[in-house]
Amino acid sequence: MGCFYLFFSVIVSWALFLPSTHELQTSQSQVLTQLRKHLEFPSPLGVLENYTGDLCNLSSPAHLSISCQENSITELKVMGDRLFNVTEFNGFAIPNKTLSEKFSIDSFVTTLSRLPSLRVLSLVSLGIWGRLPDKIHRLSSLEVLDLSSNFIFGSIPPKISTMVKLHTLSLEVNYFNETVPDWLDSLSNLTILCLKNNQLKGQFPSSICRIKTLTDLALSHNELSGKLPDMSTLTSLHVLDLRENDLDSELPVLPKRLVTVLLSKNSFSGKIPVQFGDLSQLQHLDLSFNYLSGAPPSNLFSLPEISYLNLASNMLSGPFPNGLNCGGKLGFVDISNNKLAGDLPSCLGSTSDERVVELSGNCLANASQHQHDHSYCTKALARRKQSSVREIVVLVAVAIGALLVLVLSVLAVICLCRRYRSRKSEHNIFAKAVPDNSPNDLCSNIVTNARYISQAAKLETHGAPVCRLFSLEELRVATNDFDFSMFLGEGSMGKLYKGKLENGTSVAIRSLAISKKCSTNNLKVQLDSLSKLHHPHLVGLLGHCIDSSGQDDSGGKRLFLVYEYISSGNYRTYLSENYPEKVLKWSDRLAILIGVAKAVHFLHTGVIPGSFNNRLKTNNILLDEHRIPKLSDYGMSLITEEIEKPEAKGEGPKSRRKKDLEGDVYNFGFVLLESLVGPIVSGKGETFLLNEMASFGSQDGRRRIVDPVVLTTCSQESLSIVVSITKKCISPEVSSRPSFEDVLWNLQYAAQVQATADADQKSDATSVS
Ligand SMILES: *[C@@H]1O[C@H](CO)[C@@H](O)[C@H](O)[C@H]1NC(C)=O
Ligand SMILES: *[C@@H]1O[C@H](CO)[C@@H](O)[C@H](O)[C@H]1NC(C)=O
Ligand SMILES: *[C@@H]1O[C@H](CO)[C@@H](O)[C@H](O)[C@H]1NC(C)=O
Ligand SMILES: *[C@@H]1O[C@H](CO)[C@@H](O)[C@H](O)[C@H]1NC(C)=O
Ligand SMILES: *[C@@H]1O[C@H](CO)[C@@H](O)[C@H](O)[C@H]1NC(C)=O
Ligand SMILES: *[C@@H]1O[C@H](CO)[C@@H](O)[C@H](O)[C@H]1NC(C)=O
Ligand SMILES: *[C@@H]1O[C@H](CO)[C@@H](O)[C@H](O)[C@H]1NC(C)=O
Repeated sequence: MGCFYLFFSVIVSWALFLPSTHELQTSQSQVLTQLRKHLEFPSPLGVLENYTGDLCNLSSPAHLSISCQENSITELKVMGDRLFNVTEFNGFAIPNKTLSEKFSIDSFVTTLSRLPSLRVLSLVSLGIWGRLPDKIHRLSSLEVLDLSSNFIFGSIPPKISTMVKLHTLSLEVNYFNETVPDWLDSLSNLTILCLKNNQLKGQFPSSICRIKTLTDLALSHNELSGKLPDMSTLTSLHVLDLRENDLDSELPVLPKRLVTVLLSKNSFSGKIPVQFGDLSQLQHLDLSFNYLSGAPPSNLFSLPEISYLNLASNMLSGPFPNGLNCGGKLGFVDISNNKLAGDLPSCLGSTSDERVVELSGNCLANASQHQHDHSYCTKALARRKQSSVREIVVLVAVAIGALLVLVLSVLAVICLCRRYRSRKSEHNIFAKAVPDNSPNDLCSNIVTNARYISQAAKLETHGAPVCRLFSLEELRVATNDFDFSMFLGEGSMGKLYKGKLENGTSVAIRSLAISKKCSTNNLKVQLDSLSKLHHPHLVGLLGHCIDSSGQDDSGGKRLFLVYEYISSGNYRTYLSENYPEKVLKWSDRLAILIGVAKAVHFLHTGVIPGSFNNRLKTNNILLDEHRIPKLSDYGMSLITEEIEKPEAKGEGPKSRRKKDLEGDVYNFGFVLLESLVGPIVSGKGETFLLNEMASFGSQDGRRRIVDPVVLTTCSQESLSIVVSITKKCISPEVSSRPSFEDVLWNLQYAAQVQATADADQKSDATSVS
């Protein structure tokens, strides 16, 4: 009876005091309709047009996510395509990526504030411009606020300090150009603060050091100067990214739980604190391009988790301490361009197979890479930070007199101006370097997971994700016990099966035999590294399984690699006349090549080193249902090296790496070539090179060898750009091959030229009709 009464009264109160469910939804959907209009109808919100159903039941289309609770929108995530795309800006065209002049950020935020239940708001790459108004604080329930990749400038509104529920604040890749606010400690639950790639000035605010909950702090690529305060109070901090600022103090003591520390390209000076050797969870440390001096603490090299250590281009000096050891996970060390002298510790000897070591440009005694003469490292004045230049100027003035002072100050001014200008241009609106979703791009990855965070409300674990372990049983179920119907093919890299995981995800599973001698631990390190590589144009490695039960034919172990499944086949089949319905026109080919080139460029320059031989060929480029290219089989050299050890021995990692780098460029040359002329039967590539390359030189020759589909859809200029870069890539002269950056640049240039030609053609056609 009591229950019934309670139930009844609830119904009554609903009917009396609350608007009907339907009305509530209508008002919320009206807000969305208005937001869509404000944002000038971005494609992800296209689904809202004439949509009459329940918004909260909208089956989530790409780049849009809406969640509700009790008929109110609690989560709105929109990812537009008004992306700041730095590589388009190499001097020839400036696309208009901002919303029009009619856009008012003020009324936009007013409309937004009519969604008061919002807990997660993410509006990325939508072209939003203007000064963010204070009234954003009306969204007082927000836990996640992500406005990254827009064109917002001015200051970060002070009223944000009242949004105390925020745990994620990301304003990265905008034009905020005032100081970093000093009220951030009001946000007492903040875990992720990402303000990188802006033009924030002034000092690093010490208030940040009072946000005890902070796990990720990224302020890189700004104009912060002055002192970095003691941060030891940030006991939860895992990621610290302050790269490319003007910070010029000594390095402070850092909190103990840091996993990633990126402080490169500042003006830090003094010694590397010995306490860095106590950061027992540290995996990545980048202190390169600063003015650090003294001997590097030896315990840095032996940290248990450290895998990436970059101390390049500092003023580190002196001999290494005796008995320096390297940690078991250390895979990459760069100490090049310092003033280190004495004997090279044996674990840094470049004959070691486990790690890449860069050590050129020092004065080390028994190093294989280029070293300076001993006197270079003892010369005190060779490279000095600006403050010491000033000190020296004073001394010289006293000693020699006013004239010399004048000369030196003129020099100093020129120096400073240069430096200022180069910094400036980095931050110029059209030249700002925006990392293309690299693992350096820690914030975006984290923010992508924000939905998960918000749902789980568990904020403790923010370490880098490790490769998931699958059980053999799980993979058996997924592939129907490796049934032949699930068999996709077999190659030098083992057998490939299709599978479906319990949660419905389709996967591709590669099964490889591994040598009994292979060290499973080393293999796991490599697999972990590989699974950390996330890029829109790489097929994601979801996890692995090592089966040691000896089920293999030869009684050895087996390794299973589980990848995301890409549905629409490989690029090669899209180049072949055998599939006329699929065949891609020139601009589509360029888009795919650009995607792949970005992925390879990323592999060569990412935080995780070593992925240099990536088996680039047209049938390793997979296309998803939107024809977005994804490179498969990348980084396999890391795995095969482990698998085949110890039989495979040879050159040291340094020369191998160099060769591999060239290998990728060369192989990509063939991918380009096949994009031009269609698939080349395997093995015939060399013959083609000998007999046909010259044909590209003449119009007639081109007409004969270039794929007719390409000929009819390309502009001659765009074609010429690609022909020329192709020739360079496959040049027999290794030194005349271009860098991957060059390749990417040229492809983007070709795409731009093609787009302009296509647009001209369209307007000609309309003016004729
Ligand atoms: C939406 O409705 C308008 C007016 O009825 C119509 O012109 C338009 O084509 C519709 N849009 C879509 C995508 O159906
Ligand atoms: C939303 O969808 C779920 C499952 O598809 C259904 O059970 C529910 O009734 C729908 N809600 C509304 C309000 O239409
Ligand atoms: C960047 O620009 C190129 C060339 O216009 C384009 O093909 C590519 O898709 C853009 N990248 C992104 C991530 O939008
Ligand atoms: C960008 O577009 C807006 C409105 O569409 C226009 O006013 C502005 O001049 C454009 N800017 C450039 C550089 O084309
Ligand atoms: C910030 O940028 C805006 C717009 O470009 C400009 O008007 C303003 O003066 C800048 N503020 C500072 C402090 O540089
Ligand atoms: C901060 O987080 C804790 C734990 O999740 C929660 O209990 C508290 O209410 C939050 N504080 C605010 C102001 O939201
Ligand atoms: C360099 O020489 C020292 C002492 O002669 C030796 O201990 C060390 O292993 C050598 N390092 C390399 C890389 O050969």
